[in-house]
Amino acid sequence: MVHRPRRLRKNPLVREMVAETRLSKDMFIYPYFIVPGKNVIHPLEAMPGISHFSEDTLLKDVEKGLKLGVNKIMLFGVGDEKSDDAASAYHDHSLVPSAVRLLKKNFGEDLYVVTDVCVCSYTTHGHCGIMKDDYVQNDPTVEVIAKMGLAHAEAGADMLAPSDMMDGRISAMRHLLDGQGFVNTAIMSHATKFASAYYGPFREAADCAPSKGDRKAYQMDFRNGNEALREALLDESEGADVLMVKPALAYLDVMHNLKQHTDLPIACYNVSGEYSMVKAAAEKGWIDEQKVVMETMHAFARAGASIITTYHIRDMVEKNWL
Ligand code: PBG
Ligand code: ZN
Repeated sequence: MVHRPRRLRKNPLVREMVAETRLSKDMFIYPYFIVPGKNVIHPLEAMPGISHFSEDTLLKDVEKGLKLGVNKIMLFGVGDEKSDDAASAYHDHSLVPSAVRLLKKNFGEDLYVVTDVCVCSYTTHGHCGIMKDDYVQNDPTVEVIAKMGLAHAEAGADMLAPSDMMDGRISAMRHLLDGQGFVNTAIMSHATKFASAYYGPFREAADCAPSKGDRKAYQMDFRNGNEALREALLDESEGADVLMVKPALAYLDVMHNLKQHTDLPIACYNVSGEYSMVKAAAEKGWIDEQKVVMETMHAFARAGASIITTYHIRDMVEKNWL
């Protein structure tokens, strides 16, 4: 026999040497949920280990993470002022801009701050846009999303992550930012975001469940891989700096296919339901949490993602899994 692939699996040293995929702390983004108030740390029932934070407690938790090397975060505002026009999403004193200012004042360039840009936590109906006749209106929503992005940029956000899935939002946001001088604020597009049941636990976390209907008239149909590529390349042409695939685990083919068609960095979002499934099975003793998490993270990297947004990263660094 000439070919014996097992030769390169003989012992740990040779296995390390030939490993094709390696992870590092630098690739990870940790999501946070901010609520109004002071001194709030409210654990989320369906996401063990993840909590709602108010600004002050957020600051302390981010500091803890920074010491461990978690220096990229993504902020979600959980609004309590809801309206049909989502006005509280883009006021400069609203939740996210205010938290960004505080974090940037304390940590400056040591912390990379990504903000989620979407209005579903600020609308009365929980949809990701402005509604009329039971339909989320594309162009009026794009205007609001762009304004919200600008408010985050003015507060000091390093990168904006629009997750609404309206058509044309990347170009609108890029133009508004550039016009106001924010040429270096990056955009990570939730380029292919599928209408997914894996967002279940997040809806509780961000208080954004649609009161009526679903998100299928704007998020993508999970049966469509070609359309996913088309969506992502449109966002590239509109000026996105990073293309994200979301959810992650059930969409490895989408990441892999996108990797063959773009030179932009590809990010994935290992979403709430993916996290909760692992946590629940681990709590029951049915799986080995560390091994399952590490296998999964390597799969994302192997599929083409160089940026991974995941709720697992704090465990990974605290317990030295990396
Ligand atoms: C809403 C939004 C969702 C997530 C991120 N932004 C949920 C949804 O679209 O219904 C999901 C993230 C997660 O599940 O961890 N714009
Ligand atoms: Zn939304």
